[in-house]
Amino acid sequence: MNFRRFDWIAAAALVAACLAAPVAQAQDIKIGMISSYSGLNGDIGPVMEKAMKLYMQLHASDLPPGVKVELLTRDDTGPNPDKAKQLAQDLLVRDKVQFITGVIFTPNALAIAPLVTEAKVPFVISNAGTSMITTKSDYIVRLSFTLWQSSYPLGQWAAKSFKRAYTMVSDYGPGWDAEGAFTKAFTAGGGAISGSVRVPVINPDFAPFLQKAKDTKPDALMVFVPAGQTATAVMKGFGDLGLKAAGVKLIGPGDITDDQELDNMGDVALGVQTVFHYSDAADRPANKAFIAEWKKAYGLVPRPNFVAAASFDSMDAIYTAIREQKGKLDTDKTMDILKHYQNANSPRGPISIDPATRDIVQNEYLREVRKVDGHYINVELQTVATALKDPWKELNPGK
Ligand code: PHB
Repeated sequence: MNFRRFDWIAAAALVAACLAAPVAQAQDIKIGMISSYSGLNGDIGPVMEKAMKLYMQLHASDLPPGVKVELLTRDDTGPNPDKAKQLAQDLLVRDKVQFITGVIFTPNALAIAPLVTEAKVPFVISNAGTSMITTKSDYIVRLSFTLWQSSYPLGQWAAKSFKRAYTMVSDYGPGWDAEGAFTKAFTAGGGAISGSVRVPVINPDFAPFLQKAKDTKPDALMVFVPAGQTATAVMKGFGDLGLKAAGVKLIGPGDITDDQELDNMGDVALGVQTVFHYSDAADRPANKAFIAEWKKAYGLVPRPNFVAAASFDSMDAIYTAIREQKGKLDTDKTMDILKHYQNANSPRGPISIDPATRDIVQNEYLREVRKVDGHYINVELQTVATALKDPWKELNPGK
């Protein structure tokens, strides 16, 4: 090779390297979303995905220059910890995602927790609501809710309105939490529990349980089941078995009157009172703006429910971490940013993360199902708790 030719090749290589430099510096950030697209709540996975993609579309220009974000979506098939674990393993090891997010069901979140700890990858939970989940990995941050957050103020409020209540919950983490939180607050406020039952998570026949509840003649029936078709089945049984006609009041955390299912429930849901952090009918400007964008992108079927709101906020937390690090992610810094995340203007009101527990802090609203202009909606009647931390963690410090 003569000298001239060598120079020319070297120069060309340098130019190529310079041209390639911006590309080499650009960050392709992969986010693995695990949710349910089939099985129990198989209709919720698409809602989660729609909310995250809506956020990504609206905030594409907020990303630092050269940063691209890719959402990898996976179907865990419902409450199926083995499947969730395998999906998380593949996302972490093969796809090398920088975040895991999503996850509707508590057992799935618990199965993923040790994997994100080992891989040191932040796990932004956008649904699963059993209080202790966040204690299972230092890499978990929860943007959704806990059942204690809704059911504890529900019990405090119910003690002022009812003398006797019966509790019926799905027999797993969030159900045990809803039962525990409600019972503690309701009895502390002077209420009496007329009976309690735990029902199978999948396909329970509610009739015998509802009949038993009715026989104890409670003033109120407190129910937690996973939002979705299961809640609609409870609601129908409540009407069909004559509890509503007997004057029993149906109450619960807002999962039982999920905005998405209200139209399937129909008139039997009218008057049901719940405590929860999100209603698509809330008239906060940030919620109005969220609903308008959702409507523009997807129409109003499916309705943007609490899972949509939490998924939208989860993506805002992730984008905040990406923006603040200009796209070059360091796990410890990401965790620090996520632990101090706040948004005064979430569709559900002001939210923040409690840095000590990595759990969500938010308002809880008392709501009632009403029919307004031909639509069934959860009308927010009053704020029953402001900037509420997870009460279970407050009552069990160090757990
Ligand atoms: C959960 O498994 O943590 C869970 C699922 C559905 C809900 C609430 C909590 O509506």
